[in-house]
Amino acid sequence: MPVIHSSLIRPAAFALALLIGAFVAIGSAQAQSAVDEGRKLAFDRGKGNCLTCHVIKGGEYPGTIGPELVDIKAKYPNRADLVAILHDETARNPLTVMPPFGRNRILTEKEISAVVDFLQTL
Ligand code: HEC
Repeated sequence: MPVIHSSLIRPAAFALALLIGAFVAIGSAQAQSAVDEGRKLAFDRGKGNCLTCHVIKGGEYPGTIGPELVDIKAKYPNRADLVAILHDETARNPLTVMPPFGRNRILTEKEISAVVDFLQTL
């Protein structure tokens, strides 16, 4: 068995710790950018246009056709439920006026995922 001197292990462990730290930082930066992207899509009048019907923290001139979007993470802890609501709310409520963003391809799956990331911060 080769003998590894402890003076070699210490810098290696330090380098590994730096590397892990960098990946964690990149991961949370990516999560933050998805939230920012989701907010932009939600507020964009030509995209999600969610403010036409929902009061959302930070959004201007909201309509009140739908409920205010607050405590969404507590109300829908399961991410898949939010994806389903955005994909096609008519599946849950055939009479809803909320557009089926996924089914009608108003938003891509990736865009819906970013909007859900944003909703989970509300
Ligand atoms: C034309 C109006 C309209 C638009 C635009 C709209 N919604 Fe809705 N939304 C509603 C209505 C009305 C409801 C109430 C539930 C129902 O009708 O089935 C609702 C319900 C919801 C719910 C469930 C809320 C709860 O408290 O249970 C979420 C989440 C939601 N909408 C998110 C969004 C997001 C995100 C967008 C933009 C991508 C959006 N909505 C765009 C009308 C709209």
